[in-house]
Amino acid sequence: MTQRVDAAVRDPVDSGGRWLLRGVRPLGGAAVDMLLDGPVLAEIGPALSAPGATVLDADGLIALPGLVDLHTHLREPGREDAETVASGTRAAALGGFTTVFAMANTEPVADTAGVVEQVWRLGRTAGHCDVRPVGAVTEGLHGARLAELGAMASSAAAVRVFSDDGNCVSDAVLMRRALEYVKAFDGVIAQHAQEPRLTENAQLNEGVVSARLGLPGWPAAAEEAIIARDALLAGHVGSRLHVCHVSTAGSVEILRWAKSKGWRVTAEVTPHHLLLTDDLAASYDPVYKVNPPLRTAADVEALRAGLADGTIDCIATDHAPHAPQDKETEWAAARPGMVGLETALSIAIMVMVEPGLLDWAGLADRMAGAPSRIGGLPQASRDVAAALRPGAVANVVLLDPAARWTVDPHAFASRSRNTPYAGRSLPGRVQATFLRGRPTVLDGKIV
Ligand code: DOR
Ligand code: ZN
Repeated sequence: MTQRVDAAVRDPVDSGGRWLLRGVRPLGGAAVDMLLDGPVLAEIGPALSAPGATVLDADGLIALPGLVDLHTHLREPGREDAETVASGTRAAALGGFTTVFAMANTEPVADTAGVVEQVWRLGRTAGHCDVRPVGAVTEGLHGARLAELGAMASSAAAVRVFSDDGNCVSDAVLMRRALEYVKAFDGVIAQHAQEPRLTENAQLNEGVVSARLGLPGWPAAAEEAIIARDALLAGHVGSRLHVCHVSTAGSVEILRWAKSKGWRVTAEVTPHHLLLTDDLAASYDPVYKVNPPLRTAADVEALRAGLADGTIDCIATDHAPHAPQDKETEWAAARPGMVGLETALSIAIMVMVEPGLLDWAGLADRMAGAPSRIGGLPQASRDVAAALRPGAVANVVLLDPAARWTVDPHAFASRSRNTPYAGRSLPGRVQATFLRGRPTVLDGKIV
């Protein structure tokens, strides 16, 4: 990709100058030119002329709407050694994201209007992508008393997604109250579905591998029981439930049943649960320790099928950066989680597009349209075709579908390196990301 930069690149917020993207393929379709004028996608068509615009030769690159991640741990405030809003959003931009939802399990917990506004402001200042804070459901993630959901919703951060992620809201009465409460402002409760008593001291998926290793396992039923219970509650109160990081075939079946009832239940799956299996834990390499745990090949297959047919609505990274002292230790002491922002799109291409389970428009829906709908982002971004029409907000990612790259954790923008893909060759490379018409990434590098 060559580029001719004759306009200021870093304009003030929301003003990107004029960019003429030559030869892009929107949603993988026929090549056209695309003109970004300030924050707006102004024109699409063959051989556009745009005097004064910066021309980017994007021949053959696929244009997708800016990706949206419903599940990112940015670790600020509190664990800036593992990640900051600035470093995490740089990683997001490099991965093609224009919005990330920042999980609430920070220190202090994002359970007040003050903390969510702080995270939102840090995102604005960094400017690499939009940061939408997730508010905690319960005070301190303790699962005992509801947090100030209304105050977070009406704060400058305008919180719509609430989650105790990392912990399950296991008390059924509290869960019911939370679902009822957020109905007033069309919020959603994102549940980390893990029945706590069934998973005490659990180390990996309960199955053949855990039996062989003699480690306490994490039964699929511990996830499925909570999803079934919460789907029933969401149906009963008519509110919105979102299920975080679904990991079992049984969960997919329960979601299919809940949706068939017309209940407002949505779900996400992570790239790692779409690819990796529990036999990797036999290496005792804590890079494979994650919550929920890696499951079996049959689960992976069911998750891919569920994502393809829409039973699972979207891909979310669960980007979970950890400092070396928390991760590079013995298995039982290591924190669960993997970084994912910079590899998510490539893994999704590998597991969904290359085998023909999703086309580019389908992938765009699972990584941009659906998370926009669930997270309550502006109407125009909820439909991926509409998001790439003239008049839309110019949130665009350009990716090279033919490129392959080798994962080098030391080249990550993230402060953490806990990726299971080090040294692995992956398909598809983000070349450029535009946030409201302003490039945040050009030539695969942060602007
Ligand atoms: O693996 C995980 N890591 N799962 C979670 O639910 C929390 C996350 C974290 O915060 O590290
Ligand atoms: Zn979680």
